Amino acid sequence: MRMACASLPESALPDETPRNIVILAAGQGKRMRASLPKVLHPLGGKPMLQHVLETARALRPRHLVVVYGHGGEAVRAAWQAENDLLWVLQAPQLGTGHALRKTLPCLDPALPTLVLYGDVPLVSPATLRALLAEAREGLALLTARLPDPRGYGRIVRDQAGKIRAIVEEKDASEAERRIDEINTGIMALPATAPWRWLAALSSRNAQGEYYLTDVVAQAVAEGVPVRSAAPAHLWEIEGVNDKAQLARLERIHQRHRAQSLMEAGAHLLDPERIDIRGDLVCGQDVRIDVGVVFEGRVVLEDGVTVGPYCVIRDAVIHAGARIAAFSHIDGARVGAHAVVGPYARLRPGAELGEHAHVGNFVEIKQSRLGAHSKANHLAYVGDAEVGQRVNIGAGVITCNYDGVNKSRTVIEDDAFIGSDSQLVAPVRVGRGATLGAGTTLTRDAPPEALTVSRPRQTTLPAWKRPQKETDQT
Ligand code: UD1
Ligand code: CA
Repeated sequence: MRMACASLPESALPDETPRNIVILAAGQGKRMRASLPKVLHPLGGKPMLQHVLETARALRPRHLVVVYGHGGEAVRAAWQAENDLLWVLQAPQLGTGHALRKTLPCLDPALPTLVLYGDVPLVSPATLRALLAEAREGLALLTARLPDPRGYGRIVRDQAGKIRAIVEEKDASEAERRIDEINTGIMALPATAPWRWLAALSSRNAQGEYYLTDVVAQAVAEGVPVRSAAPAHLWEIEGVNDKAQLARLERIHQRHRAQSLMEAGAHLLDPERIDIRGDLVCGQDVRIDVGVVFEGRVVLEDGVTVGPYCVIRDAVIHAGARIAAFSHIDGARVGAHAVVGPYARLRPGAELGEHAHVGNFVEIKQSRLGAHSKANHLAYVGDAEVGQRVNIGAGVITCNYDGVNKSRTVIEDDAFIGSDSQLVAPVRVGRGATLGAGTTLTRDAPPEALTVSRPRQTTLPAWKRPQKETDQT
């Protein structure tokens, strides 16, 4: 983690002015009623602040500064490894103007400064570029007209339509409260100006805070042009103050991602019922049924179908594979044209070859199942190397754990493992071998032979089943 306010390596695109970017994230977020700091709450599987950081980085900042608050050590710790960030503690929190003032020693006065909020996670680089374009000669504000502007600062314009000031709701007159153009809080300030303007802020207002918004009146007084830009979508400017707003933005975010997937050709049976908490890459002719949750990085190659209510995380599903309903896949690779589920569980290190079949209530962990091999019912395959065209019967278990050590099971090509067998690892089943049903295999089974461990079946013809006394009357 970088502490000093040193300059970052040159990263601006030739066509873009370099800039300072400050993300305000010191607010306590009390209304979240959570022990987790507000900006660490996940949206689409990533902390809210991560979304803002990624957007900021897309704009090539020269200096990227996050203002965090009292108790925000967890926030700082979450990005400890990222060395392009500068962290500024703001305690106590005396308002947005005070927050930005705290960052001045970390900023380059010769560059413009973009201010973002850590709790407004969905603002897009496109919208911010439009804002920055308005900031070429002065101050630019991201504003929007809302049917219900309550709670926001209002944009006060003169008769010519020029911005004169921002009035916070608590300081606004009746007439000002009727203004429906609001301040989103996101703004771009011209080079050098913050050093003059922020020093001159006062806290003589309804909330006793240093309002960043007061820089607008200062710009106007100095004759610095003040312009506005509008967001491409209204949801981009929505902030998160409570769990209901978080859930609302989550849906918006998911709808947006579903839309992009469909535009790229994925067939979603219901775009309202998909959750992508990470990165999902889809090939052509991919079909995803309802209620599927994707986590981490998932790749679905061409022609993959995913049945309803699956959870798929950090996995690659190769072309033409079919994942049936209620399957849980984590850290696994599924070969082309394989069939998985319903109700299958692939745990980390599971690798299925082409045309492999893994059926209901089969669990596979740290194991490779070769091409055309099948485990169709109720089995546990752990720490195993399974060859091609192997048939694993119902109820088969690899006993890979003796309470201390994990041992491996090897099953060579074309073996047939009879139902309800236990393979006590380390153990090997030779090529083409057959295990009779119910075998408890403790030594290697030779190739091309039948191995059975169960006692011979006997019949006692004279045996009588005990009878209840009442039955005899
Ligand atoms: C601010 C704006 C208001 C705008 C609204 C949009 C001011 C004075 N008002 O309102 O015009 O309509 O945002 O939501 O700027 N923060 C700090 N330190 C502080 C105070 C706030 O880092 O001392 C951060 C918060 O974490 C948050 C952002 O600044 O990310 C905005 O704070 P918040 O209290 O939600 O906004 P308001 O000041 O009410
Ligand atoms: Ca707010």
